[in-house]
Amino acid sequence: MAQTNLGMEFGSSYVSIVKQGEGLVLKQSNLIAVKKENNNYYNYCVGEKAKNLLGKTDDRIVVFSPVNGGEIISLPHAVYELKEYLNQLHIKRNLFNKLKIILAVSTALSKDEKQKYIELCESVGAKEVILIPKIICSAVGENINIGANNARLVVDIGGGTVECAVINLNTIIQGSTLALGGRNLDTTIVDYVKQKYNAVIGIKSAQLLKEQIGSLYPNDSAEMEVNAVDVSTNTPLFIKVTAKDIFEATYLFLDEVIKIIKTTINTLSPEISSDVVRNGITICGGYSKMVGLEKYLRQKLGLNVLISDNSESATVNGLSKIVNQHELLEKILLNL
Ligand SMILES: Nc1ncnc2c1ncn2[C@@H]1O[C@H](COP(=O)(O)OP(=O)(O)OP(=O)(O)O)[C@@H](O)[C@H]1O
Ligand SMILES: [Mg+2]
Repeated sequence: MAQTNLGMEFGSSYVSIVKQGEGLVLKQSNLIAVKKENNNYYNYCVGEKAKNLLGKTDDRIVVFSPVNGGEIISLPHAVYELKEYLNQLHIKRNLFNKLKIILAVSTALSKDEKQKYIELCESVGAKEVILIPKIICSAVGENINIGANNARLVVDIGGGTVECAVINLNTIIQGSTLALGGRNLDTTIVDYVKQKYNAVIGIKSAQLLKEQIGSLYPNDSAEMEVNAVDVSTNTPLFIKVTAKDIFEATYLFLDEVIKIIKTTINTLSPEISSDVVRNGITICGGYSKMVGLEKYLRQKLGLNVLISDNSESATVNGLSKIVNQHELLEKILLNL
C-alpha cells in the first residue's frame, strides 16, 4: 500500500502543509466564508479567496477562522476547509493510499481540544495522526539541536498564540502559552484608529499597517495612507497612520509576551538558567518580523535575542525536517 506523509500546522492565521520529499506544498490564510441563502448556511470558499471577501460583502456572507487562540472553534468548518486543500493538492485518501498527518499544535491544549485536531485529520481521511507541540517543531526549524543537553528558550509569536518553552534533551522542561497573537493586534489597531481619527478602517488594512509600518523604534517616522470611512459623516476618506500609532495601539501585547518569558525564566533551575543566559532567546513566528523587536526584547529582558531570517516559517521548516527524518520523529515521540 502506498503512503502519503504530511506535516501540518492548522494555525490561527495560516494553514501550512508540508509533504514528505517535497517540502512546503500549501500555505493559505486559515479562513472560511459562509453564505446564508434561504435561511440555510453553506460553505462558500476558503483560504485567500475568503480573505479577499473580508469587508467586501453584505451580511449574508460571513468570513471567519475555524481556529482561535490555537483551538478549533468550529470542527465542521475546519474539516470542510482542510478537505478543500487536500483536494487541491490531489492527495489520495483511499484503500490503496494511507494518509499520515503529523500535526503541530499548541502545548496548552486540553485532552478534548487535542481530540478535535485528531478528529479533524481523521475526518479528511487520515489513518494515522500524530500531534507534536508546535514549539518543538519551531525549535527544529530554527536549527536548534533539541536533543543536546543544552537548554534553549524558544518563543513563537503567531497569529493567535504565543508559545514560550525551554527545551532540553528532546523535551519541554518548562513552558507557558498565551492565547493572544498578531490577529488580536489587528482588531486593536482598528479600535485605536477609530478613536484617534474618528474613522473606521478594515481589518485587512490594519494587518497591512502592522506588517508594513509597525515598528518598536520610538523615533520611527514611517507612515502609510489607508482607506477609511468617517464615523460622523459616513463618507470615504484617506487617513495617514504612523508607526507611532501602531506602537501605541499594540505595545500592551508586548508587556504580556515579556511577562510570560520572565515567568518561564524565573522557574528554571540555576543550571538551566545558565544555559538560557548563555544561549540567548530564540524568537520566531509571524510577529518576530516586527521591526525593532530584537532590540526591544533585549533591552526589556537583558538577554541576547536571536531572530533568524526565516523565523516566520520556523514551525513549518521544523515540520518539514520531522516529516523527512524518521529518527528525529521517534526521538521526539519518545520524550513527549
Ligand atoms: N512584519 C510583520 N510585523 C508584525 N507582524 C507580522 C509581520 N508579518 C506577519 N505578521 C503577523 O504574524 C501573524 C501570523 O503569524 P504565524 O504565521 O506565525 O501564525 P500562525 O502560525 O497561523 O498562528 P498560531 O501559531 O498562533 O496559531 C499575523 O498576525 C501576521 O499579521
Ligand atoms: Mg504558528
